[in-house]
Amino acid sequence: MYIHKFYLPVLSLFLYAGKGEGLTASQFCSHGFDYIIVGGGTAGLVVANRLSANPLIKVGVIEAGANGLDDPIIYTPGFVGKAVGTSYDWAFSTTPQSELEDRELYWARGKALGGSSAINFYVWMRGNKQDYDAWSNLGNTGWDFNSMVPYFKKPEHFWPPTAAESNEFNLWFNAADHGMSGPINTSYSVTYGGTHQYWQQTLNNLHLPNRTTFGGSNWGVWTGLTSVNPDNRTRSYSASQYYRPYAGRPNLFVLCNAMVRNVTLETIGGQLTATGVHFTYGGEDYHVSVNEEVIVSAGTVQSPGILELSGIGNPTVLAAAGIPLKLSNVNVGEHLQDRIMSVLAYEIDDSVSNQDPLNTPEGLAAAQAEYDTDHTGLLTVLPVDFAYVPLKYYLTKNNVTYLRSLVTGTDARTQNIKSKLNWDINLGSMEFVLDPNLLFPAVPNPDPTKKYALVYQMLQYPFSTGNIHIPAAPSGGKTTSSDTPVIDPKYYQGDGIVDQYTMAAGQVFADKIAREGPMSSIIVKRVVPPEPAPGQKDNWFENLKNSTVSDWHPIGTCAMGGSAGASGGVVDARLRVYGVKGLRVVDASIMPIQISSHLQGTVYAIAEKGAAMIIEDYVARHHHHHHKD
Ligand SMILES: Cc1cc2nc3c(=O)[nH]c(=O)nc-3n(C[C@H](O)[C@H](O)[C@H](O)COP(=O)(O)OP(=O)(O)OC[C@H]3O[C@@H](n4cnc5c(N)ncnc54)[C@H](O)[C@@H]3O)c2cc1C
Ligand SMILES: *[C@@H]1O[C@H](CO)[C@@H](O)[C@H](O)[C@H]1NC(C)=O
Ligand SMILES: *[C@@H]1O[C@H](CO)[C@@H](O)[C@H](O)[C@H]1NC(C)=O
Ligand SMILES: *[C@@H]1O[C@H](CO)[C@@H](O)[C@H](O)[C@H]1NC(C)=O
Ligand SMILES: *[C@@H]1O[C@H](CO)[C@@H](O)[C@H](O)[C@H]1NC(C)=O
Ligand SMILES: *[C@@H]1O[C@H](CO)[C@@H](O)[C@H](O)[C@H]1NC(C)=O
Ligand SMILES: *[C@@H]1O[C@H](CO)[C@@H](O)[C@H](O)[C@H]1NC(C)=O
Repeated sequence: MYIHKFYLPVLSLFLYAGKGEGLTASQFCSHGFDYIIVGGGTAGLVVANRLSANPLIKVGVIEAGANGLDDPIIYTPGFVGKAVGTSYDWAFSTTPQSELEDRELYWARGKALGGSSAINFYVWMRGNKQDYDAWSNLGNTGWDFNSMVPYFKKPEHFWPPTAAESNEFNLWFNAADHGMSGPINTSYSVTYGGTHQYWQQTLNNLHLPNRTTFGGSNWGVWTGLTSVNPDNRTRSYSASQYYRPYAGRPNLFVLCNAMVRNVTLETIGGQLTATGVHFTYGGEDYHVSVNEEVIVSAGTVQSPGILELSGIGNPTVLAAAGIPLKLSNVNVGEHLQDRIMSVLAYEIDDSVSNQDPLNTPEGLAAAQAEYDTDHTGLLTVLPVDFAYVPLKYYLTKNNVTYLRSLVTGTDARTQNIKSKLNWDINLGSMEFVLDPNLLFPAVPNPDPTKKYALVYQMLQYPFSTGNIHIPAAPSGGKTTSSDTPVIDPKYYQGDGIVDQYTMAAGQVFADKIAREGPMSSIIVKRVVPPEPAPGQKDNWFENLKNSTVSDWHPIGTCAMGGSAGASGGVVDARLRVYGVKGLRVVDASIMPIQISSHLQGTVYAIAEKGAAMIIEDYVARHHHHHHKD
């Protein structure tokens, strides 16, 4: 009983990856799927893999982007950042931000098999115990740190460095904190940029201790672990590890270059139920039905939109978009918390950067040849110099007391974030990263004869809270998933003023890093922002209005509601959309509160935990009832 409302056989040149390579979208639809996954991104492919491990479960994945598995721009570490702005990037922008001089900030998002894990910057890490315990304290049972540890480890296959590498490059780790048999390879680099040797000592001189960071506390200074396969120094991500080796499973079907429009919701036995999805492929509309569940894994930007386009959300948003309301939930698209970043740029000593060869065609060709043959050299270098710094390093106790007094929000989330605005606790509230390779073109009109390094600074526990919704349709029209989402993070607005003060204080610390030895020995001068004129002072607070950018770690738009239930969020602790049968969200959007960490390790854990719960529920259902077919 599979309905093909829009069944249109097409002689198409579009191919789909995986089983049955070469078949068309209509043939994809001819399969009776148990589960359809919307978005073959970081989380989506994890869920697809775990579900299809059971040969009785037929899984279909619909991904808007292309398969970039064999594209060097995606798999080569030394090309980090280069896929941003290409066809593998949705290239979104925010609305004009009133506290940022009305600037519209660029938001990269992966549009490829593997999603953002295909274009991200390879950082592999984990948040603090308090970060996940905060989710659990909101009433999301099972999401505390200790309960999450098995799911942090499950995706990971850690490759420990040799003792010689550990000594030479300051690699500190505790193998017991890592997974040893999961799909994603994690490893330390064996080739480093020219500034790496100065980083740890400089931060030690600023009183930051050396730390191992996967045990539930990540503050301090350390060398970053990366999601890189140490055998051939290639990106290890959801497409290469959770999908490619399993593409031949007869019950797993992945359709790339296909855009989901919405989820079909029908009332069955008085219960709103997900029964399939509408999607477009090669300009044609298709419908595919589903026996068990639809899993929405379209990411923080697009997952709330999929719900809205299906009739679930804020009635005002849906009315403006011309979408008939099926279920009201004003939390859909709300509680957005992004991470903000500011970058200082320095001219550095001519002798330091070892990346220069990459700037000439001959140098690049030589590096490419070395990489292709030996998997070594400059094309394996990544930014890995990290410090996560507690408040007391850059604010006084009085400063923090004052900032706490500015917080007006009384809701549980805000109160939780306020509990981390505590001068006495050792939580990395601010991240600093040194990058000698100009990942971002942060220096206006760079002098080609000079060398530069950047100090990135990222706020970990923002108060700024915004939203993402589908746009309004022209009168009489109807919004579709091709219409660009309206992203309004409300940076520095409301209680977000605290973020601006905290960032300003952090900028002073960032500048201190460059002025502390031994780092100071290679710094010529600051170029962004320019050094103040004699007798003048930096105005860090004002400067943030035109220097703040996004670090692209948005969460919260389909948040778990905890003990408040549907009045506090979108999904329950088993990631089921409140009020709908057979519909879940599994991706970064379910995180209710921001964590102090880059997100991918946590997104993989969410997906592993989500998949385990989906399977648990499947088994429970089929234990009691015979399968419908
Ligand atoms: C440039 C960049 C660098 C980053 N660097 C790091 C880093 O170094 N370390 C780290 O830990 N984290 C990093 N992150 C963050 C991390 O990669 C993401 O948080 C994480 O990958 C998000 O996973 P997800 O499953 O929620 O969404 P995604 O992986 O983005 O997956 C969503 C998928 O859904 C697809 N999709 C969306 N709408 C539709 C539709 N209508 N129909 C079909 N498909 C659809 C998208 O194309 C995408 O493939 C970075 C992010 C970016 C963008
Ligand atoms: C990379 O991960 C895969 C999947 O677990 C594993 O088979 C392989 O041995 C790993 N490689 C290394 C070098 O750790
Ligand atoms: C940090 O590690 C370095 C290199 O191993 C060592 O020289 C230094 O003493 C350590 N610093 C502290 C504060 O432990
Ligand atoms: C790297 O190795 C993995 C297996 O370990 C393989 O699947 C992949 O194709 C290799 N990539 C390149 C570019 O050689
Ligand atoms: C879902 O998408 C299909 C195809 O674009 C469309 O016909 C249908 O009206 C949409 N459903 C809703 C609820 O808007
Ligand atoms: C912190 O306190 C110092 C000293 O009183 C003051 O100059 C500074 O402006 C304060 N900063 C913040 C962010 O409140
Ligand atoms: C950014 O703001 C600072 C402080 O207001 C100002 O001095 C600087 O010129 C501004 N830079 C740009 C590029 O607008």
